[in-house]
Formats: sequence, C-alpha cells, structure tokens
Amino acid sequence: MVKSKKEYYFPKKFLWGSATASYQVEGNIDNNDWAEAARKGKVPSADPGIGQYRKYSQDFDLLEELSQDGYRMSLEWSRIEPRPGYFDLDEIDHYKKVLEDLKRRNIKTFVTLWHFTLPIWFARKGGFTNSEAHNTFRRYAQFVVKKLGHLIDHIDTMNEPLVYVSNGYVRGNWPPFYKKRLVRANLVEKELIKTHICTYCALKRQGYDGEIGVVKNQIYFHSDKNPLNVLKKKIAEYQWNDRFMHAVRHYIDSIGLNYYFHHYFGPDKKRHKKTDFGWDIYPEGIYHAISDLKKYNVPIYITENGLADAKDKNREKFIKDHLYQVWRAIQGGADVRGYFHWSLLDNFEWAEGYSKKFGLIEVDLETKERKIRKSALAYKQICESNKLVR
Ligand code: FCB
Repeated sequence: MVKSKKEYYFPKKFLWGSATASYQVEGNIDNNDWAEAARKGKVPSADPGIGQYRKYSQDFDLLEELSQDGYRMSLEWSRIEPRPGYFDLDEIDHYKKVLEDLKRRNIKTFVTLWHFTLPIWFARKGGFTNSEAHNTFRRYAQFVVKKLGHLIDHIDTMNEPLVYVSNGYVRGNWPPFYKKRLVRANLVEKELIKTHICTYCALKRQGYDGEIGVVKNQIYFHSDKNPLNVLKKKIAEYQWNDRFMHAVRHYIDSIGLNYYFHHYFGPDKKRHKKTDFGWDIYPEGIYHAISDLKKYNVPIYITENGLADAKDKNREKFIKDHLYQVWRAIQGGADVRGYFHWSLLDNFEWAEGYSKKFGLIEVDLETKERKIRKSALAYKQICESNKLVR
C-alpha cells in the first residue's frame, strides 16, 4: 500500500537558508592559527580552496536560484585585524560588498563574528586563555559593527564554543592542540562566556539594533534506566548543553542551534544509518534539542544541520526527516524562526580537509565549478512553499 503524503506548514516569515564559515569557503587565508598549523603539517591545508572570496556573487546567484532567503556566514578576524589594533579597511570594504550583494537580493544576513579560526597574533598571546582576550575580541566586534552593522540583520558572537574547547584543549586535534588540559579548558570556557557577555553589552550600548545571539552545538543525550547511565547523561547534559547557556542566558536575544549528534548511555542495540563521517543519523534528536532550549524563552534558529554525503544518497531524506522534527517542536510551542542547512557548498572540513562533502552544491576542487545536487532541488521546493511534504 502506498502511504499518502502529508503537508506540514512552517510559520509565516520562517527563514530558509544555508550556512558557511570564512576559513572553510574563502580561500587564501594565511594569517590565522589554522593556516599556521597547516604550514607545520599538523592539519590539512585549506588552500587553494573553493574561492568564495572572489566568487561570492556567483554563489549568491545559486543561493537565489535555490529560493533561499537567509545566508549564515562568518567574518575572518585575521583578515580584518591582521595586527593587534590595526584594522584593514580594504577587508572591511570586501565584506561590505559581500553583505550588500546579499541585501540587494533580499537575503537576510546572519553573521558570526568568530567561527573557530584566530589571528596568529591573538593565538600567540594565548588565545582565550589570556584573561584580556574578551576585551581584545570586544574591540574587534565593535569595529566591525561600527563599519558593517547596518548591513547585518543578525549577529552571533561565536560558533560552538564547546566544540572549540573540546577539540583544542581536550581531544587536541585542533589548534592549539592541547590534550586533556581540563583546567585550561575550563578557563577557556569561562573566558568565552565573558567574551560573549561583554561583546553583547558593548554592541547594545553602541546601538546595534538587530538580534545578538550565540551559536551552540547541542547534543541530545539519552540513556537506559540504569541509574549510573542516567547520572552520566545528566552530567553530560550539564557540561555540554547547559553550563555555557545558563551563564549567558540573560545576554542573548536568540539561540543558534547546531544539531548533529545524539549520544546514548547504555548498550545501544539500535543500528542507525550513518553519514560519510560515520555519524549516526538521528532526526528525533533535533526535536529534543529544540524542546530543551525552550526554557531560555528566546527565538531559536537552526544555524546548522547537515551531513557528509558525497553521493547525495541520503541528503534529501535527512533534510525532510529533520525538518519534520523541527515542525513537531514548533507544534509543541518552540519559537523556531529559521533553518540554515550546513552547507551551501562542499568545503574545508577542518581536520578532515576536503574529504567530507557537506554541500547542497558540489564543488570541483580543480576547476572550482559548482553543480547543484539533486537534494538541493528538493530543499528548494520546501523553501519556496514554506511547507514540507512527506
Ligand atoms: C560544525 C561546524 C562547521 C562544520 C560542521 C560540519 O561543528 O560549526 O564549521 O564543520 O560542524
């Protein structure tokens, strides 16, 4: 028997878009900690890259062709402030053109001020272990917003602070490559909290009138009934999901949720389908992650959700299954205002280099040619009609 399809409508003015980050798509960035680590052979090189720095307008043609009305991007701090306190006006001018291009097309601009990569000079001063880091970051943020704020609809101060701390200070596979430095990791988390709060307040004082939020990777933790597993789940929830959010809760106008993972404590008998990265595909988790964030009483944007899928075999279903869960969370009272798929294009996936293909659009690394994947057309239909048919 053929199951009949149903229609699931999203709220009016729901934003449909996709997300990228400077170091992952721009190309020719040599003045940050990742580029330096690549030169030392510790991580893959992002060069020559997919070249969005020059091709942004062509990429936005594609964004428009795909009927998306939101774009999440980040600014490359190391370009804008190549030396401490010295701001490069040519780079400001570049980002001005990028943002104007989006605005001309009526695409909402969601800008992340810091997405993992740090200027070399800032990293050398200890990065966010330096107790002055929050002031240095605030100065950068204030300058950017003074120059570009009128073109930015929505600001997020930082991307996934806990992922940054965990990979850089606990697992040690990202700059600055510290392993199991738990005390230091803790200090960094505290400094990031301070950084967010002090930037938030400064930008408000400066008169920025868009929403200011933070982008947070939340994991859906669940467990069997074994008390030890229940306890482990509670600790994990506190450490990964709640502690940071709780600390910044009075200083956010919205939350950006990045959802990729669930984690089950106990013998997991279920076999989940996996992405090319080996990550479980677990759509219900986004429902729980959103529902949990309701307690902060601010609008929620899904700022990232996606999968590595070079053959584009699972992407359409992945998007639809996750969006169904987003829809359910909205029915349950969550104020979700938009969905940004990760990513618009295949790009540089950090320690994995270019091997993982997250794009709605495939990119040929040699020729830089862009090709729209089939799943992107399925997503386009959703964006256009503001409804999911499933
Ligand atoms: C997130 C990052 C993003 C991208 C995706 C796959 O953790 O924010 O830059 O790498 O994972």
